Amino acid sequence: MIRVLAVIGMLGLNAAYAVDEIMPMEHHRDMSMTDTRISLNLSGKMKRHQLADMRDHLAAINDIVGLMAGNRYAEAAEVAHDRLGLTPQMQKMCNMLGNEKATELGLAFHRSGDDLADALKTQDVGKSLSALNKTIQYCVACHAMFRQ
Ligand code: HEC
Repeated sequence: MIRVLAVIGMLGLNAAYAVDEIMPMEHHRDMSMTDTRISLNLSGKMKRHQLADMRDHLAAINDIVGLMAGNRYAEAAEVAHDRLGLTPQMQKMCNMLGNEKATELGLAFHRSGDDLADALKTQDVGKSLSALNKTIQYCVACHAMFRQ
């Protein structure tokens, strides 16, 4: 995650600035040891399932950045649509989070994955990066607010 953000930072995009549109500064800069995030109180099975999905979300972001670097936008769009978009499984998963705000953030995140796919299809670097930035903002915002 840090490496992905670093890459985006190098490309001249200010990810941290844009995050402020979704969440206040003091939340995403809080590096204190006390974890004040809201617990989703997920069950054991759900916890493992959710973390596996999360690891795939991170891998998808990594694949998208790599494909963009190789100028393979059509494939990057497929990854965004299939692995970050609002598929029926992801819709179901988000609805099972047991917290209205988390569900809302999760659904908005997956919609942003579909928007990212659309942006990538245009093969426009600027549009694609700003859509990717928007998607990553949801990762950052949700992690700042919730824990398992
Ligand atoms: C709707 C909320 C939400 C969104 C959006 C979200 N996550 Fe998560 N993610 C979580 C929660 C909750 C955890 C558990 C964190 C904890 O308990 O400390 C988590 C954990 C993770 C983990 C740890 C996995 C493990 O095996 O320990 C990774 C990696 C991760 N998320 C990546 C991402 C990436 C990348 C994105 C965006 C592309 C993303 N997440 C979007 C809620 C979200």
